[in-house]
Amino acid sequence: MVRRAARVDNRRMNTLAFGGPQAGPEDPLGWIEACHARIEARLSTLARLEAHHAARGADAELARAVEGIVRYFDEAAPHHHADEDLDLFPRLRRHALARGDGRVLAALDEAGSAHGPLEAAWDELRPGLLAIDAARGPDRRAIEAFSSAYRAHMTLESDTILAAARRWLDAGECREIGAAMARRRGIDASGRAVFIYPRT
Ligand SMILES: [Fe+2]
Ligand SMILES: [Fe+2]
Repeated sequence: MVRRAARVDNRRMNTLAFGGPQAGPEDPLGWIEACHARIEARLSTLARLEAHHAARGADAELARAVEGIVRYFDEAAPHHHADEDLDLFPRLRRHALARGDGRVLAALDEAGSAHGPLEAAWDELRPGLLAIDAARGPDRRAIEAFSSAYRAHMTLESDTILAAARRWLDAGECREIGAAMARRRGIDASGRAVFIYPRT
């Protein structure tokens, strides 16, 4: 019997078993950072699709990985963008204006205007992922462009926006943001049991 020369670790393709940071309404900034970790996990899986396809073809494992990625960017990423656009950024903008902090204001402008293009980039990437079959693998350049744009966006948010939010937002504002994020996902404020991955 011929042994396979190249073996692929199936666990590395599993996008559902997210073991990253967890947080909830009581810590909305931690929740937003956890969303970033979930996005990063999907980007890492996206980067592995090509090698998996080369080694194993369009097998069931690859289909599950693509399904997890598609579900995340279809359903969860828009919630994350809304958390920022509707709840976090406006409150932080008021603080930045009151303090005359042009750096944070510029970061808020840049990050807020990136959500539309990122969603459009996802709409462009999505059909190619769903079209992967035995003969047609992932489009590496499209994946790299999408991932690098998302990573640059999350770095700006983490380094400048979330850092300022941690300095400036008070407990009441954090409570409001956390409650809005929970409502957006249909989560009861007392329903901690809902925090089972995959969570947005
Ligand atoms: Fe964002
Ligand atoms: Fe974000």
